[in-house]
Amino acid sequence: MNLAEPMGPVWRADASGSGTNPGCRVMAVGSALPAKRVTNSDLEQFLDTSDDWIASRTGIRERRVADPGETLLSLAARAATAALSAAGVEASEVDTIICSSSSPDDTFPSLACRLQAELGCPHGTAFDLQAACSGAIYGLALAQSLIQTGMSRHVLVVAAEIFSRLVDWSDRSTAVLFGDGAGAFLVGGPDSPGSQIVAVDLGADGRGAGALGTLELPIEHRVTPGGPEYTASPRSLGRVVTMNGREVFRFSTKILEQVVLRLADAVGVEPGQISTVVSHQANSRILETAAGRLKFPFERFMTNLDMIGNTSSASIPLALAEGAAAGDCVEGDLICLVAFGAGLTWGGLLLSWGSTAIGIDQGAVP
Ligand code: UT7
Repeated sequence: MNLAEPMGPVWRADASGSGTNPGCRVMAVGSALPAKRVTNSDLEQFLDTSDDWIASRTGIRERRVADPGETLLSLAARAATAALSAAGVEASEVDTIICSSSSPDDTFPSLACRLQAELGCPHGTAFDLQAACSGAIYGLALAQSLIQTGMSRHVLVVAAEIFSRLVDWSDRSTAVLFGDGAGAFLVGGPDSPGSQIVAVDLGADGRGAGALGTLELPIEHRVTPGGPEYTASPRSLGRVVTMNGREVFRFSTKILEQVVLRLADAVGVEPGQISTVVSHQANSRILETAAGRLKFPFERFMTNLDMIGNTSSASIPLALAEGAAAGDCVEGDLICLVAFGAGLTWGGLLLSWGSTAIGIDQGAVP
């Protein structure tokens, strides 16, 4: 079976930035992390693993883990507030909230509805979408459509994850990979300040659904012997991550390359004209392999997974906020966001970098 061949058309904005397809603006990116750092050496204390294995196979050195008192809603609210404050936009101006999480603490009501109340947004549209690690890009694509069709004026896309409550802490093949965090995008119309959404490519191939998913947590794994407090947090929906790592690796490297090439082709540029790729931060070997296939220097990939692990759908706004705050995005740069994950799903988006505001919630970062 040849999984994950992109099929649908790539949407692109009118080159003039006006006309009927002007392309909305990403006005702000916000991010928030829990304060607790868990290093690979910390994991060695209760898992049969090593810093050397984790760092060499994944590039991850540490991750953030939510304390028992932190919730998905509190993390999401911190990232959303950081984005709104950076843009100088009031919560009352947001008419749509779209949330993405693969580690929800409930099936309903949605995280988006709870966030709407928490932020004090008016009674606009609020819903969650499920596209696993591709959720933030699916959310941005929807935001673009809702604004372009006149159904919304300001859309908040918030991706929040607490995978420390979704992994089986006795399974070394998955537990070492993930971390907790939240990121948010504020999207406004074409007349707003910010970075223009120039092209969008979304896809899914459900034949690969078995490669990455969740299973009911066996009773004997509900407590990790010798594990720290966070390993005993209530499980998200009583289920844990299960993954065919090699299959996911093959899919990810291939789709990452294809989406970058399709987006470049759609807007008529050479792939080399893309200044920066902000990929889903799954694993540095995936990013290195894709960079090699694209003949891109690895430095062109923005990465922060060494310090925060794989934060699923939150990873792209988290990486973009950090990189942009460090000055790595310059006016006019073509920035490619690319995600891939369970489903199998994928999504990519080209931004023409403009005056996007960056809000990093430092509140809980020591
Ligand atoms: O958002 C998408 C998330 N998914 C991903 O990013 C996953 C993509 N896949 C990968 O990055 C890699 O497949 C992994 C990093 C998950 C695993 O690397 P691998 O090179 O494919 O290792 P493997 O699963 O083939 O396992 C090799 C060995 C096994 O031992 P034996 O059978 O050779 O004795 C595993 O039991 O490594 C062992 N192993 C570990 N050893 C120490 C697996 N996990 C660990 C660990 N520490 N944490």
